[in-house]
Amino acid sequence: MTVPASDALVLFGATGDLAYRKIFPALQAMVRRGSFEVPVIGVARSGWTLERLRERVRASLREHGDGGDDAAGERLVALLRYVDGDYREADTHKRLRAALGGARRPLHYLAVPPSLFPSVVDGLGESGSAEGARVVVEKPFGRDLASARALNRALHRTFAESAVFRIDHYLGKEAVQNLLYFRFANAFLEPVWNRNYVRSIQITMAEEIGVQGRGRFYEEVGAVRDVVQNHLLQVLAHLAMEPPVGDGSEALRDEKVKVFRGIRPLGAANLVRGQYDGYRAEDGVAPDSQVETYAALQLHLDSWRWAGVPILIRAGKRLGATATEVLVQLEHAPQQVFGEAAAAPSNYFRFRLGPDRVAIAIGASTKQAGAAMAGEPVELYVCNDRGPEMSAYERLIGDALRGDPTLFAREDGVEAAWGIVDPVLSLPLPVHPYRQGSWGPQEADALAAACGGWHRPDKGVSLAHRTVA
Ligand code: BG6
Repeated sequence: MTVPASDALVLFGATGDLAYRKIFPALQAMVRRGSFEVPVIGVARSGWTLERLRERVRASLREHGDGGDDAAGERLVALLRYVDGDYREADTHKRLRAALGGARRPLHYLAVPPSLFPSVVDGLGESGSAEGARVVVEKPFGRDLASARALNRALHRTFAESAVFRIDHYLGKEAVQNLLYFRFANAFLEPVWNRNYVRSIQITMAEEIGVQGRGRFYEEVGAVRDVVQNHLLQVLAHLAMEPPVGDGSEALRDEKVKVFRGIRPLGAANLVRGQYDGYRAEDGVAPDSQVETYAALQLHLDSWRWAGVPILIRAGKRLGATATEVLVQLEHAPQQVFGEAAAAPSNYFRFRLGPDRVAIAIGASTKQAGAAMAGEPVELYVCNDRGPEMSAYERLIGDALRGDPTLFAREDGVEAAWGIVDPVLSLPLPVHPYRQGSWGPQEADALAAACGGWHRPDKGVSLAHRTVA
C-alpha cells in the first residue's frame, strides 16, 4: 500500500548539534539526488533569525556535508523557514501552524532531548499541526522500561503508532541491512544457521573515541543504554530472527520483536561493566561516577533455533580500535581426516559493519601448497570499497518522508528490548577500571571463556585450535 509523502519537514531543535552534524548534510544529499524539495521549517528557542539559521546550515554543510556553497546547498537554504520560540508555549505552535501554510502532511522531527517530547507533541496536537502528520523521534527512547512506556504513552496522546518513526541510526546503515539481505537471499546459509552448527555469536562495538565533550549526557546513560539496548540488540535481531512471513514492514518488525521477547532478561552474572581511566576527569562527569563506558554481556535466546547458543555482546569507548563486527563461529568438523595433530580452526562468518572496510568474510581452511596434506586458514572475503551510497540519516529521513516504517523501531520492540536490560540497570554492579587503548577490563574474559575468548576486530580472527589427543 502506498501512503502519501510528507509535504513539509518541521525540525524542532534546528539550531542544535544533531541537526548540524547529521540532518542538514543528509538533506543536502537528498536535494542533490532530486528526492527532497519540501519546505524545511526550523523551530528553536535560540533567539535566532532566519538569516542566522541559513548561515548555520551553510557551516554545517561545509563541515559535515559536501560543501556549503554548491547548488544543492543553496537550494536547501532556500527551502528554510524559521520559527523562534519556546516549545511549551501555545504561541510558538500557533506561529508554526501559520508557517506550515498549506502543508497537509508535515513530518515533525524532534531533534530535542526526550524530556521535551511530551510538550512538543501536546503542542502539535492542540495547535492542529498533528493532523495528517508524522513524527520522528531519536533515541534514547526512555532510560528504562517504565520511562519508555511513559514516552510511548505521551507520543500516542497525539499520534497513532503508524505515524511514529523512531530513529535508530544503525538500522539505516547499509551493512546492517546487508545482514538481513545476506541471510535471506542466500540458500546456503539456512541449513547451518542454527544451534546445530553455530557455536557462538559475538557482536563487538569498539570505539577509540571517549565521550567527546558529551560527559553530562553520558552520565545519564552509560554504554548499556547508549548503544546496547538499541543499536546492538537491533543487530542481534537481524542475525537471529526468523524469515518474515509475507511482505510489508510489519512482518519484518514482528519477527524482530519475537527475538527480543525470547531473550532472557539479564542478571548480574551476565554483565561486566567497565570505565576507562580518565573518564571521571571529563567535563560534566562526577568525580566518583559509577557510569560504565564499557559493557560486556552474555545473552540467552530461548528459541527453537538458538537454544543453548552463547550470544556475546561487548561495547566500549576508548578501546584499542574503532570497529563494529559480528562473528558467528561454527562447530568444528567432526573428524581429522588428514591426520593433523590440531584440528583446523572452525569455520566462521565475519560481518564488518563499520566504520570502514564494510565486509562479509567466511573463514575456512584450505590445503597449503606442498607434499603434505596440511591446511591453512583462509578467508573468503567480500568488501564494499565504494563506501555507502547513502548515509544512514539520508536513508532514514527519506523513508520517514515517504511513510515507510520498515527501518524504524516499533513501540513493542523498544519496550521488549528495554525488558532485556531493565533488571540490571538499577543494580549496584561494580564498574571495573580499564586502560585507555586496551580491550576493556579483564573481568569480562570469563564471559567469553566458553567461546574461545573475545573476538578482536583489529586482529582478524584467531580462534583457538582444538588439539586432538
Ligand atoms: C550513538 C551513541 O548512538 O552511536 C554514541 O550515542 C556512539 O555514543 C555512536 O559513538 C556510534 O555510532 P557509529 O555510527 O559511529 O557507529
